[in-house]
Amino acid sequence: MRAQIVAGNWKMNNDLSETESLITSLKGQTKTSNAEVMVAPTAINLFSAYNSLKGSGIEVIAQNMHFAANGAYTGEVSAAMLKSVGVQTVILGHSERREYFNETDEMLAKKVDAALANDMRVIFCFGEELADRKSDNHEHVVESQIKNALFHLEAGAFKNIVLAYEPVWAIGTGETASPEQAQDMHAFIRKTLANQYGEDVANSVSILYGGSVKPNNAVEIFSKPDVDGGLIGGASLNAEDFFAIVNAF
Ligand code: G3P
Repeated sequence: MRAQIVAGNWKMNNDLSETESLITSLKGQTKTSNAEVMVAPTAINLFSAYNSLKGSGIEVIAQNMHFAANGAYTGEVSAAMLKSVGVQTVILGHSERREYFNETDEMLAKKVDAALANDMRVIFCFGEELADRKSDNHEHVVESQIKNALFHLEAGAFKNIVLAYEPVWAIGTGETASPEQAQDMHAFIRKTLANQYGEDVANSVSILYGGSVKPNNAVEIFSKPDVDGGLIGGASLNAEDFFAIVNAF
């Protein structure tokens, strides 16, 4: 049985006080599903969030990290620094980092290696642009993103990898991929994994969907056989909406 996961990517939102307010609201929610619940505050708020959520069943995760152990990388944080504040899981390859910070597949492969070398779990993001989908090139784009950043890994590494398919055209737009589009791509991703690593690995990896998941569409999206949960942006900034999605299994 693959892990069902709902992770909230807060992106660059919430100062310390707003982080604590949202955490108080989250702790007041009731989980009725078996999903693992994660929230990703900004790096500056990770330590306070970790301490506030300790024992709550909600895991605090990071939105990014650098691949180096330390050094002259102004503004960056390392895997060891994340672990020193209790963080065990990191989102890598989000489309906004690829777009605004020029993160390449090669750079992301190094980040994945650094996270795994530090015994961290990785939520690896990928997804096509609207032009790719309109030209029916979306499967090729997704396949190359996954292969270029992950297919150097040994099969055993995938016990610490969660995949997150996020069609760029659905992020923050309210334009959600249909449940059928999500299922089709997730099935393609699982087949791609199976071709490289075999059915056992492919069937063990959780594949999350991200891109305008809301309380009113989560149940149908999560009902699909190859969708194992969601990576949630805007809706994760409201505790009630986020837990409506957490409970949508
Ligand atoms: O990482 C999740 C995010 O990209 C999805 O954002 O606002 O469309 O749920 P949103």
